[in-house]
Order: sequence, then structure tokens, then C-alpha cells
Amino acid sequence: MTATTESRTAAVTGATGFLGTALCRRLLEADWTVRGLSRPTSDRGELDDVDWYVGDLFDDGSLRELVDGADAVFHLAGIGLWDAGPETVREVNRDGTEQVLDACRRTDAGRVVFTSTAGTRRPQGDADFADETDVAEPIGAYQASKAEAEALVDRYAEADGDAVTVHPTSIFGPGDEAFTAQLLAMGVDRTMPAHLPGGLSIVGVSDVVDGLLAAYERGTTGEHYVLGGENLTYDRAVSRIADAADGSPARIRVPATAIRAAGPVAEAVDAVADRRVFPFDREMARLATQRLFYTSRKASEELGYEYQPLEAHVPEAMAWYRAEVQ
Ligand SMILES: NC(=O)c1ccc[n+]([C@@H]2O[C@H](COP(=O)([O-])OP(=O)(O)OC[C@H]3O[C@@H](n4cnc5c(N)ncnc54)[C@H](OP(=O)(O)O)[C@@H]3O)[C@@H](O)[C@H]2O)c1
Repeated sequence: MTATTESRTAAVTGATGFLGTALCRRLLEADWTVRGLSRPTSDRGELDDVDWYVGDLFDDGSLRELVDGADAVFHLAGIGLWDAGPETVREVNRDGTEQVLDACRRTDAGRVVFTSTAGTRRPQGDADFADETDVAEPIGAYQASKAEAEALVDRYAEADGDAVTVHPTSIFGPGDEAFTAQLLAMGVDRTMPAHLPGGLSIVGVSDVVDGLLAAYERGTTGEHYVLGGENLTYDRAVSRIADAADGSPARIRVPATAIRAAGPVAEAVDAVADRRVFPFDREMARLATQRLFYTSRKASEELGYEYQPLEAHVPEAMAWYRAEVQ
């Protein structure tokens, strides 16, 4: 981390994803040399100035080349239950992280910044907000795989190298066809009549990129940092998006009982089909009805992390949504 800005090299896994693309853009703007891991099938978008290393998390050779000599290794590659079944999710998120750490052990790699999720933490008891210390029993294969990966990163930081873990909350920004597109649709699309009960922390993708860079620059090895944004109930979030975008928000709240009822149905279908048909079960359905609020005070105090209000992120996300999704 003593190298000058001009000479710094970043290795990025997940470089072709939503967050990875935004991180690579920022690193290039700041004159980093950027190496990105890309699968042969990945869509590399317009990131022409990235040096692409073709392979995947299970290809030892390309991983070692990717990280060797890099000042920073941003490990972002990961998948959720929308993308694959529980076994593959565990393989990519847990085993894939082990592969990255092994490659770092066997080469001359700098600090690893691992992107986990705020989902491995939850408000405890009557607390309104969760922080890094509120380690929760994982719900579902995604959270479980990220919790296991975190333990591997902690062990690496203790025994072998330099690593920090960040925990973004729900990331909002252009290019995200999952959460962002759904939230924008609830805020402006007349065909989306209903929104969810419960609440969440929404963080702009540019703020998470700031947090990743700050974790590299100023984080303490072995430490964890929640990178959150505004804590909002769904109805506040969709009405603020509608106001900012001049749209008409979904007005009907889906009853929590209906969502909770969907959990057992999803489980029953999975049992009959003998595979994961719906990406959620009873516990995950219950989570969707709760207020999952987070504080980023530690990142703010130790990294200088700051986040912007939701409105600051709406115009860019909306321009993308109108052009690419709607
Ligand atoms: N989005 C959120 O709200 C959020 C919140 C908290 C944490 N996170 C975490 O942040 C990270 C980035 O999320 P994202 O939203 O940017 O996800 P994304 O858009 O789905 O991108 C995932 C990236 O991982 C790559 N990848 C998946 N499997 C791989 C494999 N076997 N080998 C190599 N690369 C592989 C994908 O490559 P392809 O392009 O080839 O598919 C893609 O570049 C993930 O670890 C996620 O768990 C996301």
C-alpha cells in the first residue's frame, strides 16, 4: 500500500458484474492499472481499458496470474439464489473465496478486500439497527456461504496476509437488473401495483465503490465494515423514488401474512420437485417482512465513509432504467 497512485494495480474478481463494473470504472479514472477476471462468456461491457484475465474462480492458473503483484485484490465475484441452486451458490461464494485466498497465499498479492453482505448481520433483540458485531444465524444458502467465506477471510488475515471484509446493504444503481430495477418499477411503473412491507438499507453503488476504496486505503486488517445507506421502509423508498422521478408509486402494500404464507408453499414445491424452484423458503419469506436496518458508524469513523440520500442516486439509475429496462 506504499506504492504511488500511478503505479497501483488492482485485481478485480466479479469485474463484469454490477458492482465490479462501477469499481473498475472508478479505478481507471484514478489511474490504477486494472486487471479483471472474466469468464469466457462474460459480458465485458465498455470496459476496454481493463486488462482481462480469462478464466473463472476455479481456474488456479488464471487466478494466480490475476493477483500476482497486485497492490489490491478486490474479491467481488459471487452469486445469489436467483442465479443458481444452493450447492452452486456455496461453491462459488465459499469455495471460490478459498480459491482466491489460496492464489494470494501462493503469489505476491497485496491487501484483499472481500465483499460479503450485510445479510450476515441482523438487528438483535429490540435493537433498531445492526452493526458489524450483530452476527446472525444465516438464513438460506446465500447468507450461509457468505458467512463461511468471511470466516476464511478472517483466518487468512490472522495467519497469512492482509484482508478486510465489507458488508454492503442493498445496492442501488444503473446496470442492476435485479434489486434496482424492481425498486424503480415499484416507484414509477403503473404496472407494479404493490410494494412489500418491511424495510431495508439502500446504498448507492457509487457510495459502495467509495467504501471499497476506503477499506483498501484505511481499513484495519481482519476487520469488517458495514457499507450501508439510508434506512427506509419500502413505502418510503418507493414514494421518494416516485417524487424524484415524477412517477406514480405502487400504493398497495402486500400483506406480510401473504408473504409469510408463500414460504411454506415454496418449500413444498421444492420438496416435490426435489430441487430449488423458488429462491426462498419460510425463513427468507419472514425476513422480507421485517425492518432490516443497519448503521455504518464504524465505516464512517474508521474509513471516513459517507453515503448520499436515495435521491442523489435516482437520476442516473432512472436514465439507465428508461433506456435499458422499461
Ligand atoms: N447487489 C447487491 O445488492 C449486493 C449487496 C450485498 C453484497 N453484494 C455482493 O457484491 C458482489 C457483487 O455483486 P453484484 O450485484 O455486482 O453481482 P453481479 O452483477 O451478479 O456480478 C457477479 C459477478 O461475479 C462473477 N462470477 C459469478 N460466478 C463466477 C465464477 N464461477 N467465476 C468467476 N466469476 C464469477 C460474474 O461473472 P459473469 O459476468 O460471467 O456472470 C459477475 O462478474 C457479490 O459478491 C454480492 O454477493 C451485492
